[in-house]
Amino acid sequence: MKFTFYGHACFSVVSGGKTFLFDPFITPNELTHGKVNLSDIKADYILVSHGHGDHVADLVALALQTGATVIGAYEVVGWAQKLGVQNVRPMNFGSATLDFGRLHFVPAAHSSSLPDGSYGGNPGGFIVTTSEGTFYYSGDTGLTMEMQLVPHYGKSKFAILPVGGNFTMDADDALTAARMIDCDKIIGVHFDTFGLIKIDHDAAKKVFADAGKELLLLEIGESVTL
Ligand code: NI
Ligand code: MN
Repeated sequence: MKFTFYGHACFSVVSGGKTFLFDPFITPNELTHGKVNLSDIKADYILVSHGHGDHVADLVALALQTGATVIGAYEVVGWAQKLGVQNVRPMNFGSATLDFGRLHFVPAAHSSSLPDGSYGGNPGGFIVTTSEGTFYYSGDTGLTMEMQLVPHYGKSKFAILPVGGNFTMDADDALTAARMIDCDKIIGVHFDTFGLIKIDHDAAKKVFADAGKELLLLEIGESVTL
């Protein structure tokens, strides 16, 4: 599976012949300028963890550009529809079979409202399984016992977790989460974008290394094959 980081909590994963784009927030993020071109981004599916602006800012533009199917909470998807997105798959916490395999929308401990102030439904995370395997993205969340259920849906080859703290887990919490979800390879997101979530990269990586696990903190625009 190929993972590409677009800054903040926006990334894509190519798996099972499909491109999954998550939480599109690029143009308002100055750190991406000169490193990511919106017009180059491809997607078959755009998965949205919750309605906050730092996760949906470029959702409508990229859905219209790519023709991708937008997947997320019923309320978030309804907001996108009102703005002209036609290919949608509304969900609530639960499991679904799609053309690529299985998808589980699972709880996150966070909040969710949309940029227009409307209710965003429940914030969540995704467990995606294709012919190439399973990966988990928690979405914005604090540490929660809900994560103990993640391995029930399959062994994640890697997981994407927030590590910036303040609004979400920090690296210490993310290590506890990594233990709960039974995953040794974690890709950190939701760090450095704003002052309140700036982190010491080496210290965060050491938290994981000392526990025999790996934390990857990628450069914006960087890809890795996992
Ligand atoms: Ni949020
Ligand atoms: Mn956020």
